[in-house]
Amino acid sequence: PVRGRYVCIEALDAIDGSDIAAIAEMYLLDNNGERLSREPWTVMYADSEDTEGANRSADKIFDLQESTYWQTAQGVEFPHTVVIDLGSSRDLSGFQYLPRMDAEVPGAIRNYKIHEAFIKRFNEQGSVYASAGRINLIGEHTDYNGGFVFPGAIDKVIMAEIAPNDTDKVRVYSIDIDDYAEFGLNEADAPEASWARYIFGVCREVHKRGGIVKGFDAVFAGNVPLGAGLSSSAALESCFAFALNDLFNDNNIDKFELARIGQSTEHNYCGVNCGIMDQFASVMGQAGKLMRLDCRSMEFEYFPFQIDGYKLVLLDSKVKHALVDSPYNKRRASCERVAKRLGLETLRDATMPMLKSIRTDITAEDYFRAKFVIEEKERVLAVCDALNAGDYETVGRKMYETHRGLSDDYEVSCEELDFLNDIARECGVTGSRIMGGGFGGCTINLVRKDLRDKFIETAKSKFNEKYGHEPKVYPVVISDGARIVERAEKKETDEK
Ligand code: GLA
Repeated sequence: PVRGRYVCIEALDAIDGSDIAAIAEMYLLDNNGERLSREPWTVMYADSEDTEGANRSADKIFDLQESTYWQTAQGVEFPHTVVIDLGSSRDLSGFQYLPRMDAEVPGAIRNYKIHEAFIKRFNEQGSVYASAGRINLIGEHTDYNGGFVFPGAIDKVIMAEIAPNDTDKVRVYSIDIDDYAEFGLNEADAPEASWARYIFGVCREVHKRGGIVKGFDAVFAGNVPLGAGLSSSAALESCFAFALNDLFNDNNIDKFELARIGQSTEHNYCGVNCGIMDQFASVMGQAGKLMRLDCRSMEFEYFPFQIDGYKLVLLDSKVKHALVDSPYNKRRASCERVAKRLGLETLRDATMPMLKSIRTDITAEDYFRAKFVIEEKERVLAVCDALNAGDYETVGRKMYETHRGLSDDYEVSCEELDFLNDIARECGVTGSRIMGGGFGGCTINLVRKDLRDKFIETAKSKFNEKYGHEPKVYPVVISDGARIVERAEKKETDEK
């Protein structure tokens, strides 16, 4: 992907396609501030149903300036899904743009690429869908134990253009892997390629629930880093589950069920006995909000996540994890054994005294796994209270406690992640821990703004010194989950 600094105004409210929001001129700059792209690109947020919207939004640009600043003040950051118009001739010179964050150029180019590849391959236009990766503030390995999690969707997505093809075959091309797969919709038709099995699994799981799935053509790409613990697979599942619901089922399948479709895909087609957190976050996420989910009752609450003076920073150790055939399923089995021994359905209702009372009846390994889960459940609730009270130091302390538990008791960390955690502590970072399933991937860090640059610099250089490469840094914007980005102009309605 192209890296560079983009210069733009922020745009708001365009994500669900309900409003024409803004237009921005975008250049790519290198680190010295030199332009990489000769012509500015005009980036437009437009009503997805309104093809003229993009042009009209240009007329609104000056009106929008005020509200843009207001939204910035509210801490809402630049969203990610944009329509890019390389052909715009509108003169926007003289308009004052805000310099924004350094980042990979977001959805824009990707979206454009997907269109291009789709037309080339299938010679038509489809609808474009996206779903997001996720972070989790706290509550790890608690989902399959009926506990609490605290995730949010992020501004890294899998995006797919899809159109029904009037056959009983799925034809799908992955831009990032540069691989093509074609498969039927019956159980016996499972494709070989593991990336395609996610899509096949989603089709099957929709079908098993009585939903309609017909043949379709698809092209997809994404910028959720693979194996980093940011749930690229959940993003892929949720993107296709959302799309199949929209294209063939009049959106009759409720959103929770879409998340369950993704989860069952993991269980039945990908060999990972995961909980519901990743797919839930990917489907239900909302910009600027984390969600506290009770994984037993499935009740959840949105928590506005705007903590002034702090930033969330992800550091990717680049140690790859693979949850398939991995110790992940074994962790889950340990927890289930202990719950059963306690006569409980899950560890949700277990307490430390209960666990201690059976200590000699279970293996030391199972004991420590369950201990972590019981303690983690309490930590999520404590973090919610602390967030409500604006007590970020406590939030951070709990994050460190989680890291220790994941490393010592649950044993899903690794040397590199422990090292990143140590660096965070030494730098005075408020909170830091391994995030996601573990066995590699990222740490999530709650960092005071004034410390952010120094922390990143220190982490990069110390890590590099020890492991010969720098960790990757991902700034995180809490964003919307599964959604339609752009609806094909005519076709679907005729075909439904
Ligand atoms: C993976 C799983 C989730 C969850 C986390 C750990 O991401 O897919 O269900 O168990 O690990 O919290």
